[in-house]
Amino acid sequence: MSTPTQPDVVLALEQVSCVVQDTVLVHPFSARVSANEVVAVLGPSGSGKSSLLRLVNRLAEPSGGTLRLHNTDVFTLAPQVLRQRVGLVMQQPHLFPGTVESNLQFGPTQQGRVLSKKDIQNLLDQVSFAGKPEASVETLSGGEAQRVSLARTLANQPDVLLLDEPTSALDEATRLRIEETVRQWVKQKQHCALWVTHDLEQARRIADRAWLLHNGNLVKQGPMEEVLDAFSTLT
Ligand SMILES: Nc1ncnc2c1ncn2[C@@H]1O[C@H](COP(=O)(O)OP(=O)(O)O)[C@@H](O)[C@H]1O
Ligand SMILES: [Mg+2]
Repeated sequence: MSTPTQPDVVLALEQVSCVVQDTVLVHPFSARVSANEVVAVLGPSGSGKSSLLRLVNRLAEPSGGTLRLHNTDVFTLAPQVLRQRVGLVMQQPHLFPGTVESNLQFGPTQQGRVLSKKDIQNLLDQVSFAGKPEASVETLSGGEAQRVSLARTLANQPDVLLLDEPTSALDEATRLRIEETVRQWVKQKQHCALWVTHDLEQARRIADRAWLLHNGNLVKQGPMEEVLDAFSTLT
């Protein structure tokens, strides 16, 4: 039985599962994320973290269960609309050929919006990108490209950010800057984020609460230190 979610619940997963060719990647999974919250998604390699994130914006189609975004069943939304409201940032930056600015304009244009020069600069400031909006993305370093990738996702004005090890290829300074950007965005806008990381110190910095996956199951959720204790006992 599903019950209506409370007003501050941004994202609710109810018995969401993923089966691919008779292999269960994610067993029925129920959990909620509230406004202002970053939840760290932890687990050994192959435990289903990326699969879970892909279910949330329907890059992979759930095999069962219900997903609610602000109490709206996400299956009533067009996938393209869902993916703008639930933005995904992966380990490798994903940018189109062209300029930094054209990458930022892409999503808003699809929503019928055009970003002003000031909007563009605000987005770039938010991710501490000091380069020029006119720069070709081919000239960017890996860290710069990842920051522009995050800015491009934020340009869509999502409600939820899904972050799949977005800083694991970056240097320490850039990593800390991106952590700060996401935490500020979550707090200022009353949004939420799910952040997959294998860096347990990063998990402590970004989140108060965590989910622990093992073999496609949610084996523990709760305060960070309790989940880290449970993680250390996994065999
Ligand atoms: N499309 C797929 N088809 C079949 N198996 C998959 C597919 N995607 C991932 N897997 C398998 O599902 C398991 C979980 O993968 P993944 O979600 O990528 O784990 P994690 O992100 O925690 O490392 C792994 O055993 C992986 O090999
Ligand atoms: Mg993964």
